[in-house]
Amino acid sequence: MMLLPVTVLIGLLCLSLAGSVGGFARLLDDVELRSAFSVARTNSMEGGPKMTVTFDAVYVNIGGDFDPKAGMFRCRIPGAYYFSFTVGKFPHKDLSVMLMKNRNEVQAIVYEENAGEERKVQSQSVMLQLEFGDTVWLRLHGDPRYALYSNTGHYTTFNGYLVYPDTYDYQTHRHQHHPAYNSQQPQQDNIPLLNDNQATDHVSSGTRGTVEEKELQHREDEEDEGEEDEDEEDDQRSAFSVGRTQSIVGVDQVGLPQHQPVSFDTAFVNIGEDFNMTEGLFTCRVPGVYYFSFNVGKLPQKTLSVKLMKNRLEVQAMIYDDSQGEKALQSQSLMLSLKPGDTVWLYSHQRDGFGAYSNHAKYITFTGFLVYPDFPSTTIATTSQSYADKKP
Ligand SMILES: *[C@@H]1O[C@H](CO)[C@@H](O)[C@H](O)[C@H]1NC(C)=O
Repeated sequence: MMLLPVTVLIGLLCLSLAGSVGGFARLLDDVELRSAFSVARTNSMEGGPKMTVTFDAVYVNIGGDFDPKAGMFRCRIPGAYYFSFTVGKFPHKDLSVMLMKNRNEVQAIVYEENAGEERKVQSQSVMLQLEFGDTVWLRLHGDPRYALYSNTGHYTTFNGYLVYPDTYDYQTHRHQHHPAYNSQQPQQDNIPLLNDNQATDHVSSGTRGTVEEKELQHREDEEDEGEEDEDEEDDQRSAFSVGRTQSIVGVDQVGLPQHQPVSFDTAFVNIGEDFNMTEGLFTCRVPGVYYFSFNVGKLPQKTLSVKLMKNRLEVQAMIYDDSQGEKALQSQSLMLSLKPGDTVWLYSHQRDGFGAYSNHAKYITFTGFLVYPDFPSTTIATTSQSYADKKP
């Protein structure tokens, strides 16, 4: 007779323990689920058989996941990582440096082909979804007519850090079936480098048929309030990183919709499915502060004018280049404080004489992710309400 209550008691104890173990695990996550590197190179490098860009100045290497001598980042913690790099152009040489995943999967590129005498830097950034053991590195074009420039001024730098570890998924069963978390498209290996003509041929299909259904289910789940506190907390992730493999050429259009967002065909990550690739539209689901970065190639003889837009027509930042130069790359980044329903998108000036360049190597990339949610939704509902009231 006494056994039953004891069992119940133990059961209760286990339950409460499970709760605190969960909290404990999350604390540990903060300490152990860290990975970040930031490195620089203090000398130049010419294209040759050894194409991996190595580094000799290490600023940050949390977790030791970057091997500077090998020039190789090796994923220890599966998850979504943000990478950015800047490379210098060598006088009288062309520039072509690709961000590579594993042996030969091209992710994004920095490129300039005019062999001009100038020195300058170019930057690129994307988020990648990585599995344990995946490697990420920079590859300089193997032809000696290419080179990258650096000196003790550190023109050439490479950074990466873990934004969202995958362990988040394991804590929330719901997410394990969500297709968005592995939305990386199969990459085309051995792409002929910088072949313009192929860019338009095959566009990898962005979304899968099941996404909409699951998303709908996901939404319905969300509407089921109740003991969902933990899930809601885990839902506070949002990240996208997309690429475009086709150029944009502005034309004078009469009768066609104005101010169409730039659309994309490749998703590196789309955590939370907040970015619609066909529309080219990010819609804020989790209120908070987001980091955005975008990189766009310049078409020769066209003026490059690409704006980061919020909601209908609020310009937040822009890229501009009206030089006569070749396919140089331009970059921009900023943080925005967003409310649910706010949209963020890129606009390329839709007029004759304007345009932006890309091809399979993805000059045009667009990345955004939640850095800080406004408030933990579970605890401070009333406070956040009054906070919202104070906002303009
Ligand atoms: C993206 O937008 C298009 C056009 O509005 C829509 O048809 C499609 O269902 C959206 N995709 C997703 C995954 O929501």
